Amino acid sequence: CGIIGYVGTDRSDAADVLLHGLSQLEYRGYDSAGIALADGALDVHKRQGELSALENALAGAEVGNQTTGIGHTRWSTHGPPSDRNAHPHTDEDGRVAVVHNGIIENYQRLRDELTAEGVDFRSDTDTEVVPHLIAGFLDEGLDREAAFRAAVDRLEGSYAVAAVFEGSETVYAARNESPLVLGVADDGTYLASDVPAFIEYTDRVIYLEDGEFARLEGDEIAVTDAEGRTVETSIETIEWDPEDAGKSGYDHYMRKEINEQPAALRDCFRGRLDELSGRVTLEEFEGVELDRPVTLVACGTSYHAALFGAQLLREWGVPAQAFLASEFEADAVPIDADSVVVGVTQSGETADTLRALREASAAGATTIAVTNVVGSSAARECDRVLYIRAGPEISVAATKTFASQQAALTMLAASLSDHRSRELVRELRSVPDRIQSVLDEGAAREVAATYADAGAYFFIGRGYNYPVALEGALKMKEITYKHAEGFAAGELKHGPLALVTEQTPVFAIVTGDGRRAEKTIGNVKEVEARGTPVVAVTDGQSEVGRYADHVLEVPPAGEITSSMVANVQLQRVAYWTAHELGRSIDKPRNLAKSVTVE
Ligand code: G6P
Repeated sequence: CGIIGYVGTDRSDAADVLLHGLSQLEYRGYDSAGIALADGALDVHKRQGELSALENALAGAEVGNQTTGIGHTRWSTHGPPSDRNAHPHTDEDGRVAVVHNGIIENYQRLRDELTAEGVDFRSDTDTEVVPHLIAGFLDEGLDREAAFRAAVDRLEGSYAVAAVFEGSETVYAARNESPLVLGVADDGTYLASDVPAFIEYTDRVIYLEDGEFARLEGDEIAVTDAEGRTVETSIETIEWDPEDAGKSGYDHYMRKEINEQPAALRDCFRGRLDELSGRVTLEEFEGVELDRPVTLVACGTSYHAALFGAQLLREWGVPAQAFLASEFEADAVPIDADSVVVGVTQSGETADTLRALREASAAGATTIAVTNVVGSSAARECDRVLYIRAGPEISVAATKTFASQQAALTMLAASLSDHRSRELVRELRSVPDRIQSVLDEGAAREVAATYADAGAYFFIGRGYNYPVALEGALKMKEITYKHAEGFAAGELKHGPLALVTEQTPVFAIVTGDGRRAEKTIGNVKEVEARGTPVVAVTDGQSEVGRYADHVLEVPPAGEITSSMVANVQLQRVAYWTAHELGRSIDKPRNLAKSVTVE
């Protein structure tokens, strides 16, 4: 989601400023949009759909002459896209309006509490608890700022939240683990999820930190910490090419999304891992026990995640198999009322996957969607949904959604098989930091430059690294248009070895020091002996580095989670190779983000 806030001094066209800001934030989601104007009675306008729907609705409305307001463009996390789930959300008496980006982990508890007090909720969102909490504190006699602070104090999870009050020209905001930046200008003050929202008006910004509160009043901004003490802030002047808007300064959405993986995974894990008990707690699957075989269906990148999920389920004692959704019928997969079918689909709209899920449903199977898009067809049609919470992905080549699918499927597999392991939970929690360390080093770019002219690229891996090899090759072919193929490491000698030459680097993903690693090292030696360049993607726990021309490092941990981290190295190699070759990275030829035909 994207949020914006504005308090004008010289200008009184808050609605225009907010709408312009939202248009620059649409890359953060666009399933509904809304604004609340405040200086008089609260004036709230919101619409399902892209920003244009809100703009059309406002065209006929009287929204001139206000100085103060907040706005929101939504990417659903709780509740499908609809007018009533669109932000801003208000209390019952229309005293306060709130926009929010993030996930409020304890919202169900807060909602139950407020409902018991007689509050009537009008949306399915987690956000709506905030205006009701604020209203409750106002009723207790707190002033606006104190009520806002007291409400935020009750929230657990991630939030960038902003509020305006009836008859007031002040915007209140707070942040925790969701970005919020403030803008200082001569004609007023701004706040937004990201700089492009107000860069047209000012390049002087203050970055709010986790746990801080801000009050925007006229041309003044006051920042305080959780205890209410004033925080000394510094104003930074930023250089910005408005052309970059939406990509936050990156050349391509793909690079931005690769770099967003640590944050995306933190959101995916949020509220779902319990380190003490080693349990995964998926609210969506509470009380569901599974003693039946699981069938996973998916296409493209999501299919690779499905292969990974099936391996995990089998490892933890649940018979499971992944199928290409487009081959589901031809494969004559046996499905009946006892079957559990999991559709893995980022968009939730892939026709092949929907078709397979519908067939499964018609046969009486229990269907589960693992998807990124709230309110998508898969989410609506399946019996249960697990959201991967990766945030919008714009680049056609999927990156962060694959990592989040791996993470979500790991949690689903653990939950369905009742697998408990403190070590696994700890490791999962460390994945974002381990990916960050991969993102912070430059070896992948050097490797890409070295082999940009290669004739073909091969990727090998075993066990959990086999789907990673397939995914590494898919990323490479999608965005470089060069021949790339992934193999199970042991298969190399049964045919593909005929393809390797000095012009065809082989990327070997080898993690851990167990038997799988040992065997893959054997396969690497077969390649190396033929003069073929070898790039080892490894955590250094085995000796594979000795046989490699290049090493792409992965911080050491267990094999399951290492595969998630290793994949990021391959995403980066593909990206930088395509960069070297001058390809159309975000929109590769012949492909589409969401394929809605079979
Ligand atoms: C298209 C995209 C792929 C994606 C596949 C499945 O082919 O180009 O990147 O992996 O669809 O998409 P889904 O939305 O179902 O995950």
